[in-house]
Amino acid sequence: MKTFFNVQDLGNLQQALREAHEIKKDRFAFDTLGKNRTLLMIFFNNSLRTRLSTQKAAMNLGMNVIVLDVNAGAWKLETERGVIMDGDKSEHLLEAIPVMGSYCDLIGVRSFAGLTDRSYDYAETIVQQFVRYSGRPVFAMETATVHPLQAFADLITIEEHKTVARPKVVLTWAPHPKALPQAVPNSFAEWMNAADVDFVITHPEGYELDPQFVGKACVEYDQMKALEGADFVYAKNWSCPGVTRPEDYGKVLSKDMGWTIDAAHMAVTNNAHFMHCLPVRRGMIVTDDVIEAPTSLVIPEAANREISAQVVIKRMLESL
Ligand code: CP
Repeated sequence: MKTFFNVQDLGNLQQALREAHEIKKDRFAFDTLGKNRTLLMIFFNNSLRTRLSTQKAAMNLGMNVIVLDVNAGAWKLETERGVIMDGDKSEHLLEAIPVMGSYCDLIGVRSFAGLTDRSYDYAETIVQQFVRYSGRPVFAMETATVHPLQAFADLITIEEHKTVARPKVVLTWAPHPKALPQAVPNSFAEWMNAADVDFVITHPEGYELDPQFVGKACVEYDQMKALEGADFVYAKNWSCPGVTRPEDYGKVLSKDMGWTIDAAHMAVTNNAHFMHCLPVRRGMIVTDDVIEAPTSLVIPEAANREISAQVVIKRMLESL
């Protein structure tokens, strides 16, 4: 595997889930696979789970790990071609990327959406330069439009906790004070479409996700109706994806607290498990009682980030 951005990059999804299951039973079974190999993790944005779980996964495989926080100690990077670099940016990404590639065998990149230029974000302008110029396999640690390590961990978690063959999974928008990217809901939708689940997306009008990710999902604007009989409730905020009104891309169109997941919302479900990728804002996305309930899966899904990362890194090592 040379890149990991989308569910298709894993090939057979059931096979990947079996591999995840095996790794979880013995996460040190391949602890020499990464000997004398180095993972470089590059963060343009903050992280807790991705940083720790991905490093742990690489260490489980015997790798060395280098972490670069681009905004804390590195030269400020110019990302556009054709500019006169007479400002505060000392180095161009087009030199920095091959240099970074020369120090490692695999690269993970976190680079969020700017949320001002939809075309720039949805072309994955930053990470695609890493693919093109690093000379190394590259995987997403959340890019402008996708967060596949999270979606894979979410699917592993659903597989572990489902009690029916084809559970009903509802992705629901929830309010947040700031504009957030669409990467998590995009990937979650993409991966649920590839899984054997009954998948429903609910959000206020104007928050329609890009059709390439919505796929065959049922879109229901009535949140309570969408939640009826759900086995899993996946809450997440996202800013306007600009599908119906491109001029609204990246904007906060609603802070309707009626969409916050509370006991009344969970009451119409099939005693659903609550899920969220974290970090989560309590009182905005979800109430304390729901996130603290025994049915909440926020900690197990975060723990499964180590497993999803290990499957991906293992496959990349095997393809070197
Ligand atoms: N869910 C997730 O990616 O968490 P971090 O932003 O803390 O890495």
